[in-house]
Amino acid sequence: MTVLLGLETSCDETAAAIVKDGRTLLSSCLVSQTPIHQKFGGVVPEVAARSHVQTINLMIDEALSKAGLTYDQLDGIACTRGPGLIGTLLIGLSAAKALSWSWNLPLKTVDHLFAHVCANFIDTDLEPPFVALLVSGGHTQILHFKNFDDIQILGETLDDAAGEAYDKVGRLLGLGYPGGPVIDKIASKGNPNAFKFPEGVVKGYDFSFSGLKTAVLRQVEKLQKVTDELPIEDLCASFQEAVTRVLVKKTLKAADELGLKTIVLAGGVAANRELRSKFEKASGYRVYFPSNHLCTDNAAMVAAAAFFHGENSKLNVGAYSRQPVRGSEE
Ligand code: KG4
Ligand code: ZN
Repeated sequence: MTVLLGLETSCDETAAAIVKDGRTLLSSCLVSQTPIHQKFGGVVPEVAARSHVQTINLMIDEALSKAGLTYDQLDGIACTRGPGLIGTLLIGLSAAKALSWSWNLPLKTVDHLFAHVCANFIDTDLEPPFVALLVSGGHTQILHFKNFDDIQILGETLDDAAGEAYDKVGRLLGLGYPGGPVIDKIASKGNPNAFKFPEGVVKGYDFSFSGLKTAVLRQVEKLQKVTDELPIEDLCASFQEAVTRVLVKKTLKAADELGLKTIVLAGGVAANRELRSKFEKASGYRVYFPSNHLCTDNAAMVAAAAFFHGENSKLNVGAYSRQPVRGSEE
């Protein structure tokens, strides 16, 4: 039995969680900084870092007490090394190093994107190989997850990430930050075919969402010339239709070409109801997605990822803001 404490501070969630054998959640504690950043319309890195400093130790204590464990019952400390905001990553990494040193436990560092995918191992029987669609605020990737040591990026966004597109469209429609959950809710009341927005014509498994965001902006400008009341529900539904259609189409194509029947969704946008429903309607596939609280940033996915494939790191390990080119990690 391996019990790991995971820490996550790559952006604006301060989280600690304890997971047994990569699959059983013993506790998951989190403070979201969304209310702090909302007034700025996005995450302010220095404000985020200061907030992590204030709450990380509280989250660690809470994770241990909710799991009913003391530190001597842990087998290791896991944390996110990158990608993310350097100033915030260093807070989780420094806390993990300090605990590893003082509690004499191995330090395991994981990639945040790999961790998002690993949220799907919690409480399931999922095993590789599978195709994963990773859709978060900073990344959009289709991955061929052959095994824990061999993960190939088949395609990714050439500009905005899917979550970023949701956030930008949310802002331009005056819906606040983050746009994803609000658009998801409002879109369910609108007509997805009211406006024809472009999918972004990009070859292979890559994506482009910046043209879509501009198309929504142009449509809004056009409508504002003739009406004071924007059809927000139809705009949200039509935007969401364009995003989800292309994500599903390319992921299913990748699965078919590789002859794989298992599809895994991960990242904040994997909480989207329309995206899930489109995948569920595609017959002949086993589709996995984490419960909502494990889609957006959390520490349970970090502890799970470290169990399956965490590097045993030295205490001088650094953080990285961007995902390193494969093979170039030190
Ligand atoms: O994975 P995540 O928590 O953070 C990153 O690693 O980026 O993803 C956050 C993103 C935000 O862009 C947010 O708008 C989006 O996920 N999001 C959603 C939904 N819930 C969160 N997008 C669409 N529908 C949702 N229900
Ligand atoms: Zn994330």
